[in-house]
Amino acid sequence: MPKLADPDREKAVARRGSPLATPTDLDGTAVRDISASMNAILADVFALYLKTKSFHWHMSGPHFRDYHLLMDEQADQLFAMTDAIAERVRKLGGRTLTSIGHIARTQRIQDNDAAYVEPSDMLAELMEDNRALTASLRQAHDVCSEHEDVATTSQIEIWIDETERRTWFLFETGRRGDSSGH
Ligand SMILES: [Fe+2]
Repeated sequence: MPKLADPDREKAVARRGSPLATPTDLDGTAVRDISASMNAILADVFALYLKTKSFHWHMSGPHFRDYHLLMDEQADQLFAMTDAIAERVRKLGGRTLTSIGHIARTQRIQDNDAAYVEPSDMLAELMEDNRALTASLRQAHDVCSEHEDVATTSQIEIWIDETERRTWFLFETGRRGDSSGH
């Protein structure tokens, strides 16, 4: 093999140090900050996905069909976010989550492993979790904006809208209305 010219050799050595460094015009600090922020979101979305799915499985009571179907619809929406988030991180050359253990170490949404949860408590807990996720998405939006990562901010805007919709549905579904609906 011919010996590489010095600049090529330097690049090759640099690549060996960071074999997953996809070319990007964002600097190292931006990639680090955005990756950390979006990986935390990814862990939260996986945690919330599994909790929503668990509540779908463990739902009970007179509103079973309605709540069971709502949880399933919301879980599907959360799961659809995961691939897009992870691939945003990879497109910037960052590393993303690798395992259930990695999710558990990174997530900020709390698990609920209780043997029984009242249906109304399930709705209230998911509503709070979705509200917390909206706040985290806004923070992540700030981080991405700071580094002019418009591709990530534009996706986050859609996810905020979807998360607010889930929160709205959980709020209205869990509300004890009087006969006038108020
Ligand atoms: Fe199901």
